[in-house]
Parts: sequence; C-alpha cells; structure tokens
Amino acid sequence: MRRTIPIVVLSVLSGLAQAQTPSAFNCSNFLTFNGDQSGTLSTFQQSPETMAWNWFVCLNQADGSNGGLRVWETFKPSDQVYLLKGAEPLPYSERENLPSEVPALAQKQGMDPKGLFQFLGNDTAGSPQNGVQQVDGLALKMRSGAPVPPSKHEQLVRFHLLMGKDTFNYIVANKVYNRDGLAKLTSNLDFPATAWELKTSWFWIGTDQGFKTVLTEDGYYISQAYYVDSTGQYQVGYAALSGMHVINKLTPDWVWTTFENRNNPKYTVTNDTPPKPMTNSTGPTDAAKPVNSSFQQQYSNLAQYELIGVQYDQHRAEPKLLANSQLESAFQGSSSCLACHSTAAYSTKKNSFFSFNIDHTGGILYPTSVLPDKDFVGYQKLDYVWSLKRAQWKR
Ligand code: HEC
Repeated sequence: MRRTIPIVVLSVLSGLAQAQTPSAFNCSNFLTFNGDQSGTLSTFQQSPETMAWNWFVCLNQADGSNGGLRVWETFKPSDQVYLLKGAEPLPYSERENLPSEVPALAQKQGMDPKGLFQFLGNDTAGSPQNGVQQVDGLALKMRSGAPVPPSKHEQLVRFHLLMGKDTFNYIVANKVYNRDGLAKLTSNLDFPATAWELKTSWFWIGTDQGFKTVLTEDGYYISQAYYVDSTGQYQVGYAALSGMHVINKLTPDWVWTTFENRNNPKYTVTNDTPPKPMTNSTGPTDAAKPVNSSFQQQYSNLAQYELIGVQYDQHRAEPKLLANSQLESAFQGSSSCLACHSTAAYSTKKNSFFSFNIDHTGGILYPTSVLPDKDFVGYQKLDYVWSLKRAQWKR
C-alpha cells in the first residue's frame, strides 16, 4: 500500500508541473488540435484554464507566413463573410479591398497604409455592421477623467467578430452566409470540432499619441483600425485590445473562454449616475487565478491580460455566469456564454431568429441554463453560432 502513495503524489505533482510550465504546449497545428481531438480533450479536462491560456498564447504568436501578423489577426472578420448584399464571400485567405479612404487617410497620418486595419463597425443609423451596441442593445463608455484624455471621454468601446477557417468553410459549404441560405435550412447546423471564433473589444485611440503611450504601458495590444462614424465619415487610427472571447468546438457544447486586460476598470465605466469603474463580476474564477499568474509571468507581451473563466459542458454547474466586462458589460449578472449561445436558432417559417430575452419584472434577463428542446419547436438550431444573425438577404 505504501508504495502507491509516492506514485499518487508524483502524478499530482506532474499535474501541477503541467499547469505551471506553459511552454510545454506545442502551438503547431493547435487550430486543428494537431489531429488529435480526443488527446486534446483529455489534456483540456485536466485543467481547462491551462488549455485556454495555451490557446490564447498560440493565437497571439506571430503567424510566420503573414508579415508579422498574430495568428488571430489572420482569422476572417465576419464583415467579410456576411456581405452587405448577401453575396458569396471570397475564399478564406482573401480579403475584400479596403475602402480607398482608409489607406489614403492612414498615409496622411503617418500610419502604414499597407498594414492590417481592423474594421470596428459602421455607426450610421440602421447599418447591419454595428460595432458598439452589445447584445443587450447598450454600449460601454470610457471614463470622463484621467487616464482617459478629454477627447475620448464617454467614447464608446468598439468590438468585432472573427472566425477561423473551418468555421468559415462550413458556413460557405452550407450556404448560410446569407439569410436566403438560413431560410432554406431543413436541419440543425453542426459545425466541425475544429471550428473557432473570436469576439474582440477595442478602445479607440485615433491618432492621440499620448493615449497610445499610456495604453501601451498598461500592456494593451495596439492595432491599426478604422470605423465609419455616424455621419458616414471614415475614421482611421489606432485601437487598443481590451477584451477577447475565444471559442472552439472541442466539446459538443463548445468551449467558452474569455480574456481581458486587468487595467480595464481604469478606463471604462458603468452607466450608473455617477458612473463607477466597470469591473468583472464573474471572475477571474478561483481555478483561473493561479493559471493567470503563471502565464502572466511567462509571457511579458500578454502579462496584463487575464483569463476570466471557462465554460464547456451544459451539465457542469460552475461557473454558471461568465462574462467579459467589455463585451457583456451591463448584463454580467445574467450572462452565461454557453446558455445564451445554445439558443442560437432560426425559424424558417417566420424567417426570424429565436429571442433569448426572458421578460421579468424589473427588466430583461437572459438564460443562464440551457433551455429545453420543446422551446425550439419550429426552429433550426444554429449550433451556438449567433454571428449568423449578421447574415443579410441577397440583393
Ligand atoms: C445574452 C446572450 C449572450 C451571452 C450571455 C454571450 N453572448 Fe456571445 N454573442 C451573442 C450574440 C447575439 C452574438 C452576435 C453579436 C453580433 O452580431 O454583434 C454573439 C457573438 C459572439 C461571438 C462571435 C461568434 C459567434 O458565435 O457568434 C463569440 C466568439 C461569442 N459571442 C462568445 C461569447 C462568450 C465567450 C461569452 C461569455 C463570456 C458570450 N459570448 C456571452 C450572445 C451572447
């Protein structure tokens, strides 16, 4: 009997060692789980938080073949998939031309006109390319005070959606990049295990060098970006990455992970009067905390980002709530990634999407556990992929 004790201790120790030596993870082909979904799943189950961080590290590594881009920057932005006129999108690695105003303004402003520009939304009324209104219809504001410069007081945080190759190819193969395709669905969607998607949030810097420096010092990743303002003018400048959702379908309910910069409460505020710092009320979870410290120590370029938590199985109770302070800001109290996304569904009879709002005295709530199948009679389920809401009718 005694002999087994050291073995148990050893295996516990090796489990710990695994959680603490993140460099052991091999990023090559991580987007396809290196061809070993079941092996990846069993490693994942030992510490979902460690795996979430490993993926985050791999996504933020330079993608050797693409002129200094990070791996996630090579993902296809949803605006290039759900085209305004519902046309078939260009192949995964090709991009629509930038509007000519963007490189022209970039050149004038001393930016790299040939570099990558994230498209952070179109603010003109009724545009289907919204980049500021969150799922509850509200937007997140910057603080009216230092360290936010006066020109950025109350400015809205922007966001955008990106998808990996296997997500994109599935959408194209099933012709659901437009509403016409959704309207013809005769069965539920079922994405491959190697489907990945991202949702990212951004502070708009524009050309304010001082603000850019402050955010760089607080560990924000800075990118070139543009958006269309409410008057239809192109705004070109820099933006700072404040949050990132990362999901993939390693498990049938998908794996839900979310990261954000630890300094966000210094920059963004609630809609209370007077506004309070916007904090995350759902995490970091106890399981995420030690994993955060170990990865933050190891990766200096990601040291200010933290994992909030991981959901991956509707039968596991915890964490029930999971949110990013930047993306589910005001409704963190009823935000479950898995439960809300599990309602992604389309009625071909009514040509409308399932509504996940739960009316309740005192406001609207969202589902925090998976709704029963009977609620979806007459709907085709969209396999958790709510971005399909952006699909346009073909014109
Ligand atoms: C109350 C419902 C709700 C909750 C809670 C929610 N989401 Fe979403 N999510 C949506 C909707 C709706 C969209 C599409 C938004 C759009 O088009 O602007 C979306 C978009 C996304 C996308 C882009 C790709 C896709 O599937 O559509 C990702 C990734 C994502 N969410 C991850 C998460 C994660 C991770 C969490 C939890 C931390 C979360 N979501 C919480 C409703 C929700």
